[in-house]
Amino acid sequence: RKKQTLTTLQKLYKQNVPITMMTAHDYPSAVFAERAGMDTVLVGDSLAMVALGYENTNRVTLDEMLHHCRAVARGSPHPFLIGDLPFGTYESTPEQALRSATRMIQDGHMEAVKLEGGEELASTVRKITTVGIPVLGHVGLTPQRATSLGGFRVQGKTAEKAIKLLQDALAVEAAGAFAIVLEAIPELVATEITKRLKIPTIGIGAGVGCSGQVLVALDALGVYDRLSPKFCKTYAEIGKSSIAALESFGAEVKSRTFPESGTHTYPMGKGEEEKFL
Ligand code: KIV
Ligand code: NA
Repeated sequence: RKKQTLTTLQKLYKQNVPITMMTAHDYPSAVFAERAGMDTVLVGDSLAMVALGYENTNRVTLDEMLHHCRAVARGSPHPFLIGDLPFGTYESTPEQALRSATRMIQDGHMEAVKLEGGEELASTVRKITTVGIPVLGHVGLTPQRATSLGGFRVQGKTAEKAIKLLQDALAVEAAGAFAIVLEAIPELVATEITKRLKIPTIGIGAGVGCSGQVLVALDALGVYDRLSPKFCKTYAEIGKSSIAALESFGAEVKSRTFPESGTHTYPMGKGEEEKFL
């Protein structure tokens, strides 16, 4: 299998082959994405909610993100690796953003960073990309601003707001982003933005007209159930099967049917050459 790079992603885009992106937040989820052949893996700050149990994404720190990023990098050697810059680590100045992005590469073992925002963040995107760190943009529903957006709401539903979204996407593109996430916007708007950009769009709740798609792994796997957006398709019921498995374990322990003598136990023997496995 080939290592995915900006060049291979560009090739997919040119050939009109949709780009796959899945989030990962630890070693096992990274291995799943690796073995499933994902083109790209995003260590999204959504892990604050789905993996750490916070109410929103704004609690997670850069250091916490870096801890997760390193685990993901160990499990996903082939996908192109992108780390989310968390809330509070890039908005103040382009210099602050560059420092955080540099840490994401150096200490987080990622290959690119993602940050939320449009025109107002263009000079920041420019600063980071100019020194050679690839940036993935993110417009539409930007969860780090959910409070001021009045919650997790669909964006760009009126013509005016759709035009503003397009302007934001164009500004991020012009600042050097290699691709841009479009989250929770009408399908028509995402399709039009995709047509007008020269970089790939990665949709989440933005319809099939985007250049690629991303989902949050613990949503797609049916693990996280505190919030289930309309756009999320559940491809497995890992939460339910995990609970059922643990219930079985609990019941078998209580009834002393686990462990089974012979299958899960060691006999007496000559010495310490007894196999552990
Ligand atoms: O944090 C995240 O998982 C994201 C994706 C949903 C794009 O930003
Ligand atoms: Na995110």
